[in-house]
Amino acid sequence: MADQPAAPSLLARIARRTGTPVYVYSAAAIAERYAAFTAAFGGYPHRVHYALKANSTLAVVRLVRALGGGVDANSGGEIDVALRAGCEPRDIVFTGVGKTPAELEQAVGIGVHVINAESLGEIERIDRLARASGRRAAVALRVNPDVAAGTHPHIATGGRTHKFGVPLGAAADTCRRALALDGVRLCGLHVHVGSQLGSSEPIREALGPITALAADLAREGCPLQHLDVGGGLGISYDGSDAPSVTEYARAVIDAVRPTGLRVIAEPGRWIVGPAGTLVASVVDVKDRAGGGRFVVLDAGMSELLRPALYGAFHRLEPLEPGPGTPVACDVVGPICETSDVFGAERLMPVPAVGDFIAIRDAGAYGAVMASNYNRHPLPAEVLIDGDGWRVIRRRQTVDDMVGLES
Ligand SMILES: Cc1ncc(COP(=O)(O)O)c(C=O)c1O
Repeated sequence: MADQPAAPSLLARIARRTGTPVYVYSAAAIAERYAAFTAAFGGYPHRVHYALKANSTLAVVRLVRALGGGVDANSGGEIDVALRAGCEPRDIVFTGVGKTPAELEQAVGIGVHVINAESLGEIERIDRLARASGRRAAVALRVNPDVAAGTHPHIATGGRTHKFGVPLGAAADTCRRALALDGVRLCGLHVHVGSQLGSSEPIREALGPITALAADLAREGCPLQHLDVGGGLGISYDGSDAPSVTEYARAVIDAVRPTGLRVIAEPGRWIVGPAGTLVASVVDVKDRAGGGRFVVLDAGMSELLRPALYGAFHRLEPLEPGPGTPVACDVVGPICETSDVFGAERLMPVPAVGDFIAIRDAGAYGAVMASNYNRHPLPAEVLIDGDGWRVIRRRQTVDDMVGLES
């Protein structure tokens, strides 16, 4: 697996040309990871619907599309991006805990592959919209399995008190009521227990009762076709062993095979996370009270929110390290928030102003969460493809930023 998708020398060359901060993705790493993910399911009937929320830059979506992937869209905006990237409506599953009337109308109108519905109320709204336009919308019910994901609490989604889906105990009845509606065609069940899962155990635990529910519904004559197992497979951010995709796929197949249902999988982070690096420049270096140094970058939580949002760890690598002995450095962003820290007490030769620092494994939940906080323009994005590279999103300008304002 391409754990080191872009060599330091190439990243430095790109950063000198584009300026920093810049996200750099490797098309080869994305392709390799996509291939490994789908291969892990072997001959078992399945389709990968890449979770756009992880990274929906058009060129990345086009690449996944070219590899044969469908997408999991979480908003009307993501549906639009998928269509612009060349996806057909049948390539799109539409998920999301709060779909607006306009988004539902859009999804029903174009006829997405399936809408993952979050409540009976939402199914009834889909039914009304579909009947009003003489259609029948494909719907899967998102079930909340009440499983501890063992991940950061902000990205665990399958607990009893979480806002996602309908409780397991209410799922059968919700399905029966959906079956009575002429505007919807109930074709699947959906579950997603959380993101950055460290093992397949929570998936295995969730799929037990969900497959039992599918079997009960089949006995009642409910024509389910697929089980959407969501995303969630974690990656290694610190260089330790990553959870195995083979083991993950085995857990899914072992659970789903007895039902005979097709699998839909919605991986995001696993496909693009390790394929992306954020490159920043050092803008200041100063002593830190108590020893060590502060290394201040031109990228902060406005470019990569994960450390401030979840205390997430990213490997930090000087691209052209000097010869000095390693010193404990707090690598921080320039934003006026004390939480704007990429890494505390990281041992590295003290960098100089102007040096490049690579923030690794930033391909997922990086650029998509970037903001204009402190009026930072959104960073540039680059795709390394074959022997070349190209800018796939130019850096935002202040004119772009204020262009919507009066
Ligand atoms: C419903 C659903 N599907 C898929 C994903 C993608 O998860 P991941 O990027 O961890 O694979 C998420 C992310 O939270 C999600 O909420």
